[in-house]
Amino acid sequence: ITAPITDKLIKCVSSSDGFRCPVAYLPEDVIDLASLPGPPPTGGPLRVRRPAHLLDAAYVKKYEAGVRMMKALPDDDPRSFKSQATIHEAYCNFHYKFLTTTPPVDFDVHFSSVFAPWHRMYIYFYERIIGELTNDPAFALPYWNWDSPDGMSLPAIFANPASPLYDAKRNQENVKSTIDLNLGPGKQNDLPLCSSTEDGDSCVKAANLCTVYRQMAVDTAAQFHGDRFCAAGVKAPGSLENAAHTAVHIWTGDPLSANAGEDMGVLGTAARDPVFYSHHSNVDRLWHLWRSTDPGHADFVGDEDWLQTSFVFYDEKRRPVRIRVRDVLEPGNLGYAYEARERLEWLDKRP
Ligand code: C2O
Repeated sequence: ITAPITDKLIKCVSSSDGFRCPVAYLPEDVIDLASLPGPPPTGGPLRVRRPAHLLDAAYVKKYEAGVRMMKALPDDDPRSFKSQATIHEAYCNFHYKFLTTTPPVDFDVHFSSVFAPWHRMYIYFYERIIGELTNDPAFALPYWNWDSPDGMSLPAIFANPASPLYDAKRNQENVKSTIDLNLGPGKQNDLPLCSSTEDGDSCVKAANLCTVYRQMAVDTAAQFHGDRFCAAGVKAPGSLENAAHTAVHIWTGDPLSANAGEDMGVLGTAARDPVFYSHHSNVDRLWHLWRSTDPGHADFVGDEDWLQTSFVFYDEKRRPVRIRVRDVLEPGNLGYAYEARERLEWLDKRP
């Protein structure tokens, strides 16, 4: 595969099983992120992302209003909730193909070092769309703070059936209990195995902190982000993707759904659950914390193939915008920040 991967090398292909690619743009209409008015201090207020379980009522109302408006937009509006969810499906169910190879090679944003930057770009535009629809440029996407003991359950704002943040396709037992971050492909068998029903919440929470500690304690960019994308289905995810992130997906999804695990537990449907975006806001935060809490942690410094990797997303004004990995390394350059919590409990939880 030619490196770097750029938006010009890949293309979404609609498929005969009924999958339709999100609205297509004309290549000549694409504008570079760098040519748009900049982030703070020059381009609007800083968007401060807060824990979803600590929001005040006015904030919840705004978040709900934004998602309700996205859901009310016509499906073919790139800002509609339907289009936004389809973007994730397109990039993870082998609907993107390389134009440069015969036969075409599938491209997927998971299982490689594209994972963290691509998802940062994706929720950045989602956040800006809500800001536009609610007329609040300071709107910031709340994060599901599952790495903190007080955030280790489904945030209540997603559990109200009358809210646009609700999704019926979830594991109805799990969402009433404390989350288990040690399950799925990244499961660590030497951590205490406990169930919240039999051993109580403190056992599960302590094991969760160890899981997060481990995924955050890795030293190299390849361990954390995963290896470079390679063809032929090679899967080399990093700890950010493989551990707690995937566990949250599996834990939330409904095992009784048609494709067991929908919505959150199946890649193709995950982004149909509004909690997806707040889950990924926390994944994004953990990337930021990995590189900002330890001077020894750095992304792939100087790796031009990674830094030049680019994708195109529709922004809040329905403009197709090209964004590169190098544009997204610092949240501040994108105009957002994470509200600091007083303590990161996993920091000293070496198992
Ligand atoms: Cu694209 Cu959490 O997955």
